Amino acid sequence: MNEPANKELVVEMRGIKKHFAAVQALRGVDLALHRHEVLGLMGDNAAGKSTLMKVLSGAYTPSEGGIFINGEGVHFSSPMDARRMGIEMVYQDYALSNNLDVAGNVFMGREVVQFKLGPFGVMDYAHMELETKKLLNRLKIDIPSVRQKVERLSGGQRQAVAIARATAFDAKVIIMDEPTAALSVAAIDKVIDLIRQLKAQGSSVIIISHRLEDIYRVADRMIVLRQGRKVCDTPVEGDIHEFRERVVAYMVGARDDFAETAVQQSQEA
Ligand SMILES: Nc1ncnc2c1ncn2[C@@H]1O[C@H](COP(=O)(O)OP(=O)(O)O)[C@@H](O)[C@H]1O
Ligand SMILES: [Mg+2]
Repeated sequence: MNEPANKELVVEMRGIKKHFAAVQALRGVDLALHRHEVLGLMGDNAAGKSTLMKVLSGAYTPSEGGIFINGEGVHFSSPMDARRMGIEMVYQDYALSNNLDVAGNVFMGREVVQFKLGPFGVMDYAHMELETKKLLNRLKIDIPSVRQKVERLSGGQRQAVAIARATAFDAKVIIMDEPTAALSVAAIDKVIDLIRQLKAQGSSVIIISHRLEDIYRVADRMIVLRQGRKVCDTPVEGDIHEFRERVVAYMVGARDDFAETAVQQSQEA
């Protein structure tokens, strides 16, 4: 099934805490991501999954804790900072511009300038279209024309464009927040294939999903968050029924592999 991940460490998050006023969204989370690895992130609503990934993608600054890329400490003040380090997040709501075509969306915010006309750049649409076509082909994404407005695409196609956009500039780490939540079964299969493509091409992927089947099919390793803490960090293996039982036990709090750390933390606090 899923091959064992190469152990080259790409990203490490250590002791990440994040609070919003009185809400402790993250209470000291460690996360490691390796090259060629697909990491599943699970947990009940409000467990802190999106917040943890927003910290990694530069949308939120952590209240405490550190992020290390290839062993070096980094500070992200914005998603642009994370992007420069090769980290891209695909948002739950796709964040595409309906009135732009596919190529326009893939290149949104980083349009290729053909030449400068005084203070204005003239866009090189031909280049952007060609690059978008190449990108869609490489990821085996089937969209008839890169000139199609995205508002006319299906949910699955939109998700594919959002993922392609995230990978357009050699992202090393691609984070997806519930990429399959609103999709049909066939479209989910496509997204799973796409994640496998990304992995085969050397990227690392973190996928948040409440669909255990997706994680089971595509992830090498899985982390479960509960109430802002990591309660499980384990390879994805074994029989799916056994896997499901195990995951549910962690999600509801019947199992906790890091309970000791939690006690330590509450003594420190
Ligand atoms: N911007 C914010 N302002 C205030 N509270 C937030 C914000 N973002 C998340 N939270 C809170 O942090 C907790 C974790 O949320 P979130 O990370 O979205 O959980 P999940 O993605 O696991 O459902 C929740 O209690 C949520 O209400
Ligand atoms: Mg969320």
